Amino acid sequence: MIRQQLLARLRELPADARVITALDVPGLDEVAALAGRLGPGARCVKVGLELFSAAGPQAVRLMRDQGREVFLDLKYHDIPNTVAAAARQAVALGASFCTIHAQNGRRALAAAAEALAAAPVAANAPQGRRPALLAVTVLTSLTPEELQETGPGPDTLAERVARLARLAWESGCDGLVCSPADLPALRAKLGDDPLAVTPGVRPAGAAVGDQRRVATPAEAVAAGADFLVVGRPITRAEDPGAALGSIAAEIEDALSRRND
Ligand code: C5P
Repeated sequence: MIRQQLLARLRELPADARVITALDVPGLDEVAALAGRLGPGARCVKVGLELFSAAGPQAVRLMRDQGREVFLDLKYHDIPNTVAAAARQAVALGASFCTIHAQNGRRALAAAAEALAAAPVAANAPQGRRPALLAVTVLTSLTPEELQETGPGPDTLAERVARLARLAWESGCDGLVCSPADLPALRAKLGDDPLAVTPGVRPAGAAVGDQRRVATPAEAVAAGADFLVVGRPITRAEDPGAALGSIAAEIEDALSRRND
């Protein structure tokens, strides 16, 4: 599926499918229990490094068997041949999204994008969609000092985010994982086409935890986010299904205001 077609389909998804619930748990039993508490309303879930290291593709299959879309957040960073092969496995698993470090460079980004476009879509893929390839520019946990230590450069953190975002888009990625705070500048530079997925989202009044720069769901959508990754405000809520529902309602409202 070509990029424009995929982006158009993803942007047709309703608000409840725009909330990606982060399943940050250490095993298959725990994820089955959490999914039970979340209920069927959690239409899209994130399988990240912790859960994948513990339970592997079985965790993805379990979620797909329950009819949920999967954001497979393994942040590929390797040589072109290896990231392309990993991307093909994300297609085979029927994932809806996978992630790659923009630092991989142009050839590896393009190899992953081409592998995703060429691999036969899994029989159980939602709407026959291939996974969208999302690039991570600079991890939001990195400070400017750490950035200089690991990859000294003439540019500031914001300049590096912008440069890597452009590189990822030019190399065929479908969008970016970024902080809501970075979005206005990225939209100004790259336009409205790249898909934007933002973590660091907290409903008004929710505990911030270890996140530093947070935005409410409405603020993130107003800034140009298409999908939001939300973990603890949903998974640690007394009623996770209700917490998810109220975030989805806020997104729906913000999306209709944005489209006015
Ligand atoms: O619980 P919380 O809502 O903070 O979880 C957010 C999720 O998004 C976690 O799985 C975290 O690893 C992920 N994430 C993030 N910030 C980034 C990238 C990913 O919080 N910059």
